[in-house]
Amino acid sequence: MSQLKELVGREAAKYVTDGMTVGLGTGSTAYYFVAEIGRRIKEEGLQITAVTTSSVTSKQAISLGIPLKNIDDVTSVDLTVDGADEVDPAFNGIKGGGGALLMEKVVATYTKQYIWIVDESKMVAHLGAFKLPVEVVQYGAESLFRHFEAKGYSPSFREKDGQRFTTDMQNFIIDLDLKKIDDPDRLAQELDTTVGVVEHGLFNHMVDKVIVGGANGVTVLDKK
Ligand code: A5P
Repeated sequence: MSQLKELVGREAAKYVTDGMTVGLGTGSTAYYFVAEIGRRIKEEGLQITAVTTSSVTSKQAISLGIPLKNIDDVTSVDLTVDGADEVDPAFNGIKGGGGALLMEKVVATYTKQYIWIVDESKMVAHLGAFKLPVEVVQYGAESLFRHFEAKGYSPSFREKDGQRFTTDMQNFIIDLDLKKIDDPDRLAQELDTTVGVVEHGLFNHMVDKVIVGGANGVTVLDKK
């Protein structure tokens, strides 16, 4: 599996050219993309500026000597490469398995070309087998949890090392065990208008290209 992640990470790095502002995703697949960008800077003299989607990725980028800027110090992002947890045939996706969905969605929103890199197990007929991460403010989080319970969304607070997980923005994550999301747009709209929800992991109609790694190598799928 890590071989496929490396394969797609390196493939995506081919889309990066001199002078670009590049969004660096988060997760075990994006890791390989960031590593390859670091290698190209060092060995090929690639000249880029990057913005990152999490403190973890910032740390990796800094260790590789990738020049970073704050998202507010760039006017737009030319290209962002990130992983995903599930992708459906309409290019809707679930992200946030690593808890970085808020920063990931902010960077994606200001990105001209948005690419996901996944292994073929992430390509699904319907979203929802992967629990949908919802980032919520700490204040009122228990009430929101009960609201999701009452709706039958089977919520669980994300935990790490026996503690409630907090995001880079100091929010909590409630994962919704929905099994199958029949209408991703309707659900996104509902969550967008739920008080206390900061962001959710539904990334609908955002991605331009999905690079899929499988047994037969790399397949590049473009938005129709
Ligand atoms: C981080 O919060 C996520 O959105 C990741 O991009 C996503 O979970 C994919 O991660 P992996 O590449 O580690 O599967």
